[in-house]
Amino acid sequence: MAVRALLFMNPKAWQRFVGEIKYVNVKQELRLYGIATLLVNELVRSAKNHGTKELFLVTEASNKPAVNFYTVRRWGKNDAELLSLDGRPLIRMYKNLVCD
Ligand SMILES: CC(C)(COP(=O)(O)OP(=O)(O)OC[C@H]1O[C@@H](n2cnc3c(N)ncnc32)[C@H](O)[C@@H]1OP(=O)(O)O)[C@@H](O)C(=O)NCCC(=O)NCCS
Repeated sequence: MAVRALLFMNPKAWQRFVGEIKYVNVKQELRLYGIATLLVNELVRSAKNHGTKELFLVTEASNKPAVNFYTVRRWGKNDAELLSLDGRPLIRMYKNLVCD
């Protein structure tokens, strides 16, 4: 599989306008060809079509390719202290789809 990702829409009424992107992964030898850009653009478009107002994702703070990828695409960073189960720092990134 060259690329994969999941988009979660929360069915709970009070959270239904927030979606989460998980497991975005492009096969190593196909990276830097714009594949994740196409994929994430499509996820954003689909989320908007479903009425989602905000998307977020969580990644390791040390994951420079991912943090850079979303920062360049004007996703915000939430610096709240988050740690993985094995203690590594995580970062929450989000995109407001209303103002996008
Ligand atoms: C992050 C990831 C999805 C990017 O996929 P991609 O198809 O290579 O991304 P695109 O080609 O569409 O976009 C490239 C952009 O990503 C960022 N980027 C990718 N690799 C980078 C690296 N090694 N260092 C810095 N920035 C990087 C840059 O912003 C780059 O833009 P530029 O070429 O103008 O500098 C890919 O590296 C990956 O699958 N990583 C492993 C899984 C992962 O970490 N997923 C994200 C967790 S949420």
